[in-house]
Amino acid sequence: MLGRGIFLLVFLLLPASQTCHVLCQNGYELDSTTNRCIPVCSTPCCNGICTAPDKCECLDGYVRESDSICLPHCENECLNGYCIVPEKCACKYGYSTTDGKICQPICDGGCVNGFCSAPGECTCNDGYSKLNATNCINVPTVEAHIMTNKTLLFGLIGTSVLLLIGVVMYIFRKRANSAFEKEEQFGTYFSIN
Ligand SMILES: *[C@@H]1O[C@H](CO)[C@@H](O)[C@H](O)[C@H]1NC(C)=O
Repeated sequence: MLGRGIFLLVFLLLPASQTCHVLCQNGYELDSTTNRCIPVCSTPCCNGICTAPDKCECLDGYVRESDSICLPHCENECLNGYCIVPEKCACKYGYSTTDGKICQPICDGGCVNGFCSAPGECTCNDGYSKLNATNCINVPTVEAHIMTNKTLLFGLIGTSVLLLIGVVMYIFRKRANSAFEKEEQFGTYFSIN
């Protein structure tokens, strides 16, 4: 009889004890699934975790932008694109990427004898000129220019060789002359005596 009474008492008290327990500190609220007090961030954390009241900690690979916002970090800074998740770039319009790191301009139809330098724009390789949007050609004036360069090089070598020969000849002649002059001086000397 007494045992049944205690059991009943416990049974009646149980629901009450479930509803009036933990009181969380200021800045914390009860998490109903874990029954624990968790910190509250008044502005939800973007790419971060609320670790203390109004304190967001950034997730791995993200860097702080403001109190509540963390932004993804890309080592190579996503030139011509935007860092959307850590180490992954999304490209601007007109650019594409194969590795998610480097955004390269797109030239529809490619660039013959050139390279795509901006979206839809081919820049010709050295020695080539623009024929149309996708093709660069080797034009005669360009070839002539290269020939001029070659001629110039060979001309320079030739001139250098000639100059060297000239200098050598000059030195030899000077030596011969001075020997001749000495001979003359001696000759004069002897003739005076
Ligand atoms: C550019 O010129 C090449 C060679 O003449 C030609 O095959 C191609 O169709 C041209 N492209 C355009 C876009 O005009």
